[in-house]
Amino acid sequence: MFESLQAAQADAILGLIAEYRNDPRAEKIDLGVGVYRTVEGKTPVLDVVKRAEQMLVDQQESKAYIGTAGAADFNAAMQLLIFGDAGPEERLTTIQTPGGSGSLRVAAGMILRATPGASVWVSEPTWANHVPLLAGAGVPLKPYPYYDTKNHVIRIDEMLAALRSAPAGDLVLLHACCHNPSGLDLTVDEWQAVTDVLVERSLVPFIDMAYQGFVASLDRDAYPVRLMADSVSEMMVSSSCSKNFGLYRDRVGTLSLLAADSEARDIVGSQVNNLVRTIYSVPPDHGAAVVSLILRDDELRGAWIAELAAMRERLIEMRGLLGDALARKAPDHDFSHLARATGMFCFLGITAEQVAGLKKEFGVYMVDSSRINVAGITPDNVNYLADSIAATLQGG
Ligand SMILES: Cc1ncc(COP(=O)(O)O)c(C=O)c1O
Repeated sequence: MFESLQAAQADAILGLIAEYRNDPRAEKIDLGVGVYRTVEGKTPVLDVVKRAEQMLVDQQESKAYIGTAGAADFNAAMQLLIFGDAGPEERLTTIQTPGGSGSLRVAAGMILRATPGASVWVSEPTWANHVPLLAGAGVPLKPYPYYDTKNHVIRIDEMLAALRSAPAGDLVLLHACCHNPSGLDLTVDEWQAVTDVLVERSLVPFIDMAYQGFVASLDRDAYPVRLMADSVSEMMVSSSCSKNFGLYRDRVGTLSLLAADSEARDIVGSQVNNLVRTIYSVPPDHGAAVVSLILRDDELRGAWIAELAAMRERLIEMRGLLGDALARKAPDHDFSHLARATGMFCFLGITAEQVAGLKKEFGVYMVDSSRINVAGITPDNVNYLADSIAATLQGG
């Protein structure tokens, strides 16, 4: 049976990680991998997660299956975190999913069930996994312009024009904050303009929020979700707890579906639960149980918000340090977009040859597009990094 198979294409990031690991140079820097890291280069278990896990060990009485939708207390707490307490609760249903990726995969299945033939419009560029997750499930994708790689700004007019040309009923995948890979987010006015076009053209927002809390605050970062929930009759929101709770491998996320009214909400709820049964039956519980404990306890929640703020502030500080160092060491090049970016990722804005040169000559690793993970920068390596970039740029 397997004789007909050819080896699948290797994942570019996994290849890069292996190369980095085998590089003997002490000064090497990894800006490729997609996880948060401390100044010591660790992706730690948050203290508050450890505490909640200990509570689970002490208190949990059963590992029996949870239902297809996951745990009701987790779903309610996450829905509140995402939509706020003014959210349209009577039209919303939220299910627990295996990470943000599982949520996106279930969302794809719902699109195929509810509106076969509809396309999802995705930003150009978008997170590398959006395409295999959604198109792999059978949903047609269409690009809308987003990032101007030359001037490092959002192509808002072209984006709006592309959305105006979309047929009614299509979906538009939007990154709520910390756009991956560009790091550039829409302004409040631009979000309003996009919302107006979606309403005018009867397009359905499909928001991916994988970094809530990484720009400014939990509420501020959810602003686009809440704006759209107030303005449209239907939408879907995928969220992930991988980054903001550091629960990457525990696979925790949600899918929220907003329906036109409470009756439609109940039908959507029955369909999404039925769909989950056909994919993974029930979601994993451990990470979601941890999140639920944290969100529903004032003291734990406060401790989490403080740990999240520390991650956010480190990223902001490191991006600032790199921007300042490059302004000094490579004054002929404009890196001012670094200061406008948010979250873990942004483009450096150099060529694939220069990316290859940085790796070969200096042991600085990033993906070919020159997307960097700011969490790989530390106060100790930032000068070496900026010197390496400046020298590479001088070399042409
Ligand atoms: C934009 C975006 N969406 C979704 C995800 C999903 O993450 P996970 O499946 O690990 O929760 C990620 C992770 O990198 C992401 O960057």
